[in-house]
Amino acid sequence: MRAVYVESFDAENPLSGLVVGDRPEPEVPDGWELVTVQAAGLNHHDLFSLRGVGLKAEQLPMILGGDAAGVTADGREVICHGVVAGRDGLASDTDPDVPFSLFSERWPGTHAERLAVPSVNLIDKPAELSFAEAACLPVAWLTAYRMLFVQGGFRPGQTVLVQGAGGGLSTAAILLGRAGGLRIWVTSRSEEKRARAVELGADQAFESGARLPERVDGVLESVGQATWEHSLKSVRTQGTVVVSGMTSGDIQGGLAHLFFRQLRVIGSTMGTRAELADLVQFLLTTGVRPLIDATYPLEEARTAYSRMVEGDLFGKIVLTAS
Ligand SMILES: NC(=O)c1ccc[n+]([C@@H]2O[C@H](COP(=O)([O-])OP(=O)(O)OC[C@H]3O[C@@H](n4cnc5c(N)ncnc54)[C@H](OP(=O)(O)O)[C@@H]3O)[C@@H](O)[C@H]2O)c1
Repeated sequence: MRAVYVESFDAENPLSGLVVGDRPEPEVPDGWELVTVQAAGLNHHDLFSLRGVGLKAEQLPMILGGDAAGVTADGREVICHGVVAGRDGLASDTDPDVPFSLFSERWPGTHAERLAVPSVNLIDKPAELSFAEAACLPVAWLTAYRMLFVQGGFRPGQTVLVQGAGGGLSTAAILLGRAGGLRIWVTSRSEEKRARAVELGADQAFESGARLPERVDGVLESVGQATWEHSLKSVRTQGTVVVSGMTSGDIQGGLAHLFFRQLRVIGSTMGTRAELADLVQFLLTTGVRPLIDATYPLEEARTAYSRMVEGDLFGKIVLTAS
């Protein structure tokens, strides 16, 4: 089958190890199902994999991709939850003692024509969502949902700063936060993206690192080194910083803000199967839909990936496989 995979790592030039080629059909263990992939989202995690973060050389070649929507052998239209719990993929996904991995880590990823998925990870795709929209949900959108409403616990009327405006996670946070009654402020390196973020529903947009008019109740932090201190300076005393990533690298500094103003820093990764189902219901109830920057056929994955390397995107990039 056709697939997009990482053949070798290169931290400086991640696209050099990217291949669009043929891979063997997936093995389907007991309790798993074969899904014919219709659409699969591209995430920053895929660039980290190409750079050699989170994978070992002996795992190569590894098919990339963390989220997908498709059709099972019996014709069910599904969204594939991307957290595979336990060594057999069939364990509880709410037990903190159960180890988990994402597609493209221990198990082959979603950027392929076909994908093996634990049956427990399949949730029905409602007809109201296209396959491309559904394919945005399991990684970036679920992560934004959990950061805002579960780990952050932000309430309607509160102000939440989202670091970064144009990415998949950031655009999800703008749309979900706004629909959930939050006042969303964003930062971006790009004037054009700041303007687009306000059009999308952000209340205000600021240059990365800019002093804010007032401190915010919470921050969604996924940029890491480039914005970390700004996040700690920008949150009110006893406010909450929810962290899910480090696009620009690991953090330095900021400890004085942390203890003097008694901040809460909370980690967040993906979300549970139940939260993915809640997210789908949230979209159906509010009418919010994932913002898709562009879709590309699997064969044009290199172009899609290069858009993400260059940071030249506003919303999600989606690969279509069938
Ligand atoms: N823990 C989890 O479960 C989880 C799940 C999903 C994502 N993540 C992490 O979240 C991050 C974003 O993922 P994504 O898929 O949304 O990536 P993406 O689409 O490539 O977006 C990258 C974002 O980072 C911002 N950014 C990048 N470098 C920056 C810098 N130097 N200064 C300020 N802003 C910068 C961009 O903002 P502008 O271009 O607007 O400036 C953009 O919003 C990644 O680190 C990813 O690994 C974690």
